[in-house]
Amino acid sequence: MPDPQVLKIPTIDDDRGEIGVIDLGFLPFPIARVYYLFDVTTQSVRGAHAHKTLTQFLVATSGSFCVELNDGLGRTRTFTLRTPREGLLIPPGYWRHLHDFSSGSVCLVLASDRYRREDYIRSFPAFVAWKEKG
Ligand code: TYD
Repeated sequence: MPDPQVLKIPTIDDDRGEIGVIDLGFLPFPIARVYYLFDVTTQSVRGAHAHKTLTQFLVATSGSFCVELNDGLGRTRTFTLRTPREGLLIPPGYWRHLHDFSSGSVCLVLASDRYRREDYIRSFPAFVAWKEKG
């Protein structure tokens, strides 16, 4: 299972501002779905699930939030996303919590597959058992 990774997004800038470009081939998967979280209240905790096969790339296109990733085998890492210049690549098999959303923040998600309910594990003990099974 690859590690989660922060990737720097190529940008094009001039005196009018900047363009962040996620072109074909930048991500290690073809994008099948794009969605975004917005109007998230600052006290909200989102996530609380893992994916069996889905890979995602998260970008704070506006504001900031924290992403806590647990590998189910004893390791937790927390990433703070606060710039549209980078994104967090999350391989399958990580339990995640998203929290500390700043007011007006937007979390853009590029995903490797369509929404499939059966890809979710929504119980932490079930996730740990699934990871231990290998
Ligand atoms: P959920 O995964 O709980 O949101 P988050 O992980 O951001 O806290 O999704 C909330 C609801 O939206 C849930 O009923 C599933 C549904 N949903 C879709 O129907 N399609 C989608 O692409 C996504 C991301 C969620």
